[in-house]
Amino acid sequence: MGEHLKDKVAIVTGAGRGIGRGIALSLADEGAKVVVEDLGGEVDGTGAAKGPADDVVNENKAKGGTAISCYEDVSDYESAERIIKSAIDNFGKLDILVNVAGILRDRMIFNMTEEEWDRVLKVHLYGTFNCTKFATVLMRQQRSGRIINTSSSSGLGSPGQPNYGAAKEGIVGLTRSVARAVGKYGVTCNAIRPGGATRMTLSPEVLAALEKRKTGEFVAGPAGAETLELESMRPEDVGPFVAWLASDDAWNVNGYDFEIHSGVVGVYSQPTIIRSVHKVGSWTVDDMFQLCPLITKDLPNPAPPQPK
Ligand SMILES: NC(=O)c1ccc[n+]([C@@H]2O[C@H](COP(=O)([O-])OP(=O)(O)OC[C@H]3O[C@@H](n4cnc5c(N)ncnc54)[C@H](O)[C@@H]3O)[C@@H](O)[C@H]2O)c1
Repeated sequence: MGEHLKDKVAIVTGAGRGIGRGIALSLADEGAKVVVEDLGGEVDGTGAAKGPADDVVNENKAKGGTAISCYEDVSDYESAERIIKSAIDNFGKLDILVNVAGILRDRMIFNMTEEEWDRVLKVHLYGTFNCTKFATVLMRQQRSGRIINTSSSSGLGSPGQPNYGAAKEGIVGLTRSVARAVGKYGVTCNAIRPGGATRMTLSPEVLAALEKRKTGEFVAGPAGAETLELESMRPEDVGPFVAWLASDDAWNVNGYDFEIHSGVVGVYSQPTIIRSVHKVGSWTVDDMFQLCPLITKDLPNPAPPQPK
C-alpha cells in the first residue's frame, strides 16, 4: 500500500466494474477510504444489482483497504445527494469525487429515439452534474477537493454515438466551468478520456471483428474494431493517473482533459481560433461570401460526400 492519498476520502461512481473499479482500487491502494458507488446495471443502463459494488468493496478489504458500497443511480438528483452524504456519514468528509458511471445506447442520429438520447444524457451529463453539484457545496466550504470527470475520445466525433458524444463533450464543458468556479477555493476539476478493454468497449460485435482481423481478414467492423490494441488496454491502467490527479501534488492542475490508457498519458490542447478575419462595423452577407472561403479553405471535411 502507498500513502499518496492517506487520510483522504473518495467517492468513485461506476466503481463496480471496468475503469471505475480500477480507479477505486488505485485510490484505496494509496490509502484513501473509498465509497464504491455503482447501480450495477447492464451496459444499456437497464437493471440494477448490488453485486458489482460489493465485490469491489470486498476486493479492497482483502487488500487491507477501507471501503463501503453505495448503490444509487447517479442520474437522479436526490440519489446523488445521498451518494455524497454517504461519504460524510461513514467517513466524516469528502476529498475526492471521481465521476465514472456510464452507459451506452449507440445509434446513428437518423435512427435514434428520444429515449436513447435522454437516457445517455441523463446518466453521463446529468449524473456528472448531480454528484459534482453536491460535492462542490462541501468542497467550497472546506476549501479543498478534487473532482475528476470521465469524458471520452468518442466525443471528438464518433458517427454512431451522437448521444454519447454530446454527453462526453458536455462533460468537458462542465469541467472547464467548474474548474473556473471552484479553483479559488483550492478545489480542482479535470476530465479524463480513458481507454480500457471492458464490457462497454469489447461488445460481442467488436470481439468478433477483432478475431477476424487477427486472421488477416479485412473487416469493416463496428466502432472500436479499428483499435486492435484495445484488447490489451487494461482498465486498471487508468487508476494510477487518477490517483496522482486526486493527490495534493496536483493542486495546480485545473480545467484540463487528459488521455489515459495503458502506455499513454497525454494532455489535450484547449480549443482555440486557428484563423479569423476582422472588420470594423457590421457584417453583410456579401462580406461572408467573400471572406468565409478564406478562413475555411484547407479545412479537411471529416466526412466528404460519397457517390450514391
Ligand atoms: N472503456 C473504455 O475504453 C472507455 C473509453 C472512453 C470512456 N469511457 C468511459 O469510462 C466510464 C467507465 O466505462 P467502462 O468501460 O468501465 O464501463 P462499464 O460498463 O464496465 O462500467 C460502468 C459502470 O457504471 C455503472 N453505472 C451505469 N449507470 C449507472 C448509474 N446510473 N448510476 C450508477 N452507476 C451506474 C455500471 O453499473 C457499471 O458498473 C464510462 O463513463 C465510459 O463512458 C470508457
